[in-house]
Amino acid sequence: MIQLLASTRSKEYPIFISEGSAAAAGSLWKSQGRRGKVVIITDGNVAGRHLGLLEESFAGSGFTVNAIVVEAGEGVKSLEQATGLYSRLFHLKTRRLDTICALGGGVVGDLAGFVASTYMRGIGLIQVPTTLLSQVDSSIGGKVGVNIPEAKNYVGAFYQPDMVVTDPALLLTLPRGQLVEGLAEVVKYCLLSGDEFFSNFEMSHQKFLSLDMAYVEPVVRRCIEYKLRVVSEDERDYGRRAVLNLGHSVGHGIEAAGNYEAYSHGQAVALGLLAAVRLSEEVFSLPADYERRLFSLLQDLDLPTGFEGIGAEAVLAAMTSDKKADDLSANMVLLKALGEPVINCDVSAGRLHLEVERLAAGG
Ligand SMILES: NC(=O)c1ccc[n+]([C@@H]2O[C@H](COP(=O)([O-])OP(=O)(O)OC[C@H]3O[C@@H](n4cnc5c(N)ncnc54)[C@H](O)[C@@H]3O)[C@@H](O)[C@H]2O)c1
Ligand SMILES: [Zn+2]
Repeated sequence: MIQLLASTRSKEYPIFISEGSAAAAGSLWKSQGRRGKVVIITDGNVAGRHLGLLEESFAGSGFTVNAIVVEAGEGVKSLEQATGLYSRLFHLKTRRLDTICALGGGVVGDLAGFVASTYMRGIGLIQVPTTLLSQVDSSIGGKVGVNIPEAKNYVGAFYQPDMVVTDPALLLTLPRGQLVEGLAEVVKYCLLSGDEFFSNFEMSHQKFLSLDMAYVEPVVRRCIEYKLRVVSEDERDYGRRAVLNLGHSVGHGIEAAGNYEAYSHGQAVALGLLAAVRLSEEVFSLPADYERRLFSLLQDLDLPTGFEGIGAEAVLAAMTSDKKADDLSANMVLLKALGEPVINCDVSAGRLHLEVERLAAGG
């Protein structure tokens, strides 16, 4: 089993990555010297597929196990839902030394992680991510939180888990659309990592789409390693961590302008990556070949290369109200070369406008 060590200022914790690791979650937790109760929080879709495996694993290692199943979907990332969970935990007699195991995608991870960070001022947290997005992104880095009616992810904390168990085999039950969501983030990591990873993924992505574990596992691992490196340097997101926003400023603009319905996060990020690579060509003379290669990779992955039904103006307006953008031009991450991201690139509003219009015209 591959074990990575995440080390941040606030905590060091292991990340176990391998096919079949979920079944070993209980013994892995025990080997960390842990005792007490484990409350698994999961959603309705994941419960039917993987909850039994985790319950058996923890119970088999001598832990008292309880499970709480919430509805699937972004709607549960709310303070109301968190309040309900605090009460459930209270009635289950959950105490300081007990642990929450978040079994699910980013929604469950963010919600259950937020509850773990606040219940009794913080109890144990295990992340068992079950979507590709959560395996390569949201389960790493310690951002937990919920939405408020006005905005996404506005209430939360930095709260590192005590252990992450990443089992790529859990992806076998994931609907293809959700797999593709995560692939947009994988492509982001390829561009951030360098030509070698990009070329490798470009050549072998079909193996990922068919969930050939011998290929999926090392790719997932490389993405996690990249994020870990960045987060260990900048846990609280003051600077370096911003490289992870590659493709996300235009992406967020498209997501928000479409009311989070027209385009999913992954689709919007794919479009944002295309815009970032095009701008990088202009600003840093990134070889034009990458734009062509990215375009065709996104097509192969069933990710969009253009958008419709939303005006470019609405995208730009949404970008200016994006919480991550101090002003429109300051927040772009561009690429000097593959593997050499530059944060805070100054792109004029006019230039950006042209790029967004190009996407709106279908790429
Ligand atoms: N904390 C962070 O750093 C961070 C980073 C990126 C995204 N996020 C958050 O992550 C959330 C999105 O996460 P997501 O894309 O994983 O969505 P999700 O958690 O809603 O999961 C997507 C869907 O797949 C289902 N599902 C999950 N695992 C499955 C499996 N193995 N088999 C079958 N179905 C399965 C879920 O029930 C859900 O319907 C957003 O709320 C976003 O804000 C957080
Ligand atoms: Zn993202």
